[in-house]
Amino acid sequence: MKVSRVAAAGLLAAASLYSVLPAAGSPAPAAGSSSPDRPLRELAGRQLLIGTAVDHAAYTSDATYRARVGTEFNSITAENVMKWEVVEPERGQLDFSAADELMTAARRNGQQVRGHTLVWHNQLPAWLTQGVESGDIDATELRGILRRHIIDEVGHFRGRIHQWDVANEVIDDNGQLRDTIWLRELGPGYIADAFRWAHQADPRAKLFLNDYNVEGISAKSDAYLALARDLLRQRVPVHGFGAQGHYGVQYGFHSASEVAANFARFEKLGLETAVTEADVRMIMPTDNVKLQAQAQGYSVLLQGCLLARRCNSFTVWGFTDKYSWVPGWFEGEGAANLLDENFAAKPAYRELQAVLALAR
Ligand code: XIL
Repeated sequence: MKVSRVAAAGLLAAASLYSVLPAAGSPAPAAGSSSPDRPLRELAGRQLLIGTAVDHAAYTSDATYRARVGTEFNSITAENVMKWEVVEPERGQLDFSAADELMTAARRNGQQVRGHTLVWHNQLPAWLTQGVESGDIDATELRGILRRHIIDEVGHFRGRIHQWDVANEVIDDNGQLRDTIWLRELGPGYIADAFRWAHQADPRAKLFLNDYNVEGISAKSDAYLALARDLLRQRVPVHGFGAQGHYGVQYGFHSASEVAANFARFEKLGLETAVTEADVRMIMPTDNVKLQAQAQGYSVLLQGCLLARRCNSFTVWGFTDKYSWVPGWFEGEGAANLLDENFAAKPAYRELQAVLALAR
């Protein structure tokens, strides 16, 4: 299995050099046309979890979206509804109702679930951030609050979450621990604490570090490697390293072998690896050249994962341009997903089909 994965990814790396060079304005070549209608999860077979972030509101209101989540993917991540601001909007009042709906759907669809996310600096409830800011919540109390949050949430889903993004975006682009309320109030030990509490609440879940701009070898991924080594030396239960994979066509991409080489460093420490939030945005409007480049961006992430020895989970951050976080967060950018706003396949979708089919 591993041998065929590696050989196929190598072949594809060479083949995709050609597939990104259509004449401007010409129709996109039908890459992967040998298997046009086979869903990604079927092509992935048992070799890989192929996942998507799920927008809970879209899932409950849009039947086409809902059906496609079930047919295309064998893993899901809650895009927002497991985040702290959603699960504890008022202090002490836990609300897992939306997350529970996604868990039920996942079970029905035979899907694994990635938990996202336990300690992060964004999407925190206002009572928490304001309490810290005003001084009402001191460091000792805050540590207890974080512990409670992790034990409650991981405990609620105990035995049903395959991988948890325990610590999200805890290092900045300069490779320093990110300046957040957690670091300022609790000191660097909060990361080890978070993993220990999560492990205590669900000893079987695989616990991940997760961040963006860490797909290749860089100061930031070097810092993660040092952090992972340090945590493991202290016998902290950390099991995986996730590269989010938020790419933009205007920035270019790593090669698949660069991604695999980066993942290999973490695997050498004993960690699993994953691509957790792949999307490839572009400056609008779209054109064929950008859409082909986008296919290449997705391709290197998937091939990088397949080339790595312990990357068994590849998740896209949404799958249709109809529901995407990109336009709201990156002005003038969009079209970051595999399917367009009408759920029609873009070149990127065909490319992932082709990579998966060859890697079988
Ligand atoms: C994003 C969601 O997609 C948006 O809907 C929300 O408004 C903000 O967060 N890195 C992460 C994800 O780890 O949780 C983020 O998700 C995207 C960047």
